Amino acid sequence: MLKGKKILLGVTGSIAAYKAAEILSLLKKKGADVFVIMTEAASKFIQPLTFCVLSGNPVVDNLFSTNDKIIVKHISLSQWADLILIAPATANIIGKIAQGIADDMLTTTVMASASEAKVIFAPAMNKNMLSNPLYQQNVEKLTSLGYEFIDSEYGQLACGEVGEGRLANIEDIVDTVEYALIFKNDYQGKTVLVTASCTREPIDKVRFISNYSSGKMGFALAKIARTRGARVILITGPTSLPAPRGITTISIESAEEMKKEVFKYFSKSDIIISAAAVADFRPKEVFAGKIKKEKNENPLIELKRTSDILYELGKKKGDKVLVGFAAETENMATNALKKLKEKRLDLIVANDISEKEAGFGSDKNRARLINNKGTVRELSLMPKIDMAEKILDEILKIK
Ligand code: CTP
Repeated sequence: MLKGKKILLGVTGSIAAYKAAEILSLLKKKGADVFVIMTEAASKFIQPLTFCVLSGNPVVDNLFSTNDKIIVKHISLSQWADLILIAPATANIIGKIAQGIADDMLTTTVMASASEAKVIFAPAMNKNMLSNPLYQQNVEKLTSLGYEFIDSEYGQLACGEVGEGRLANIEDIVDTVEYALIFKNDYQGKTVLVTASCTREPIDKVRFISNYSSGKMGFALAKIARTRGARVILITGPTSLPAPRGITTISIESAEEMKKEVFKYFSKSDIIISAAAVADFRPKEVFAGKIKKEKNENPLIELKRTSDILYELGKKKGDKVLVGFAAETENMATNALKKLKEKRLDLIVANDISEKEAGFGSDKNRARLINNKGTVRELSLMPKIDMAEKILDEILKIK
């Protein structure tokens, strides 16, 4: 998604400097062209050679370099970059930039950068430095001038203390860069509610009924809607996926809990995308303790229907856009159309879940999109993140 984007990665003297190598790899994997500038302190923590090999470009670590490839680079690099990411950013570099100091290659480049190039800091420091009013004032000043910050995290710090100050999650940092560079903005002003993953219906204290849905499709939709400017509410069943940045994420377990949360946020939403594989049945009784195997040779679990959340939403639809999924193993087109009509949907994404490589748990999907006018669009096998873009394009066409 970052193909053709030019990113300048500034690395400063923090113990988290080694994580910049991971950030660089991920940016490169996504197709970005990256140049690295290191401060002198950063090169005490990690060798420039690491960044040179990973970026495929010379590493700039000296303002007065005589290497003609990088001479006067602070001007050319500052004009070359679409975005400057400083990760990890120490209190020192943030302080210097806030005061307009330009005494090394990184600060000089930031000073000289084109006004349209975004500068993003991912700070990492000791918790007391982070809460120091001097640092806070610097952040405030830079934020008011349009510089962006990716909040550090709570956790174990290099100094042995526990608190705020750890460098943000690598994926979150790269997502923020992507968000800043590929913002389409066509969902600006819209609130999108997405349900994702499976639900768990308890049998007893230790067992449940569920399905194989991983949440990948729902999370991809939530993330892409966010990058396109929407306010996103993600209601998700159990998943191993991390909560995406900048999205209100609510975790639930059962279909009943999902229904409660969906209805809580329904009135605030303009578009509802029901990507969750909600359990259709739950045990009629939930055993209070653990069902023991003695005296239970062939236990029978009586099941009861859960409520169909999307069907209930269809009854209250109003001017909201409702999008559903149809997970089918046979008669895909007929069954999907039936669901579209019965649930009063605007769009349905029909999947053949028996297909290898696509569907539950996979990173890819193949689908047929059918809208309320009966228009059909076939989507070939593609990464779920690309499919999310196509589904969101189709939603915007609904009148
Ligand atoms: N859905 C829902 N609540 C349920 C079951 C399904 O909101 N209790 C939603 C799903 O999120 C999906 C759509 O309804 O968007 C269709 O789900 P699917 O499992 O394909 O179909 P069902 O309606 O459950 O019918 P069946 O399982 O018999 O195919």
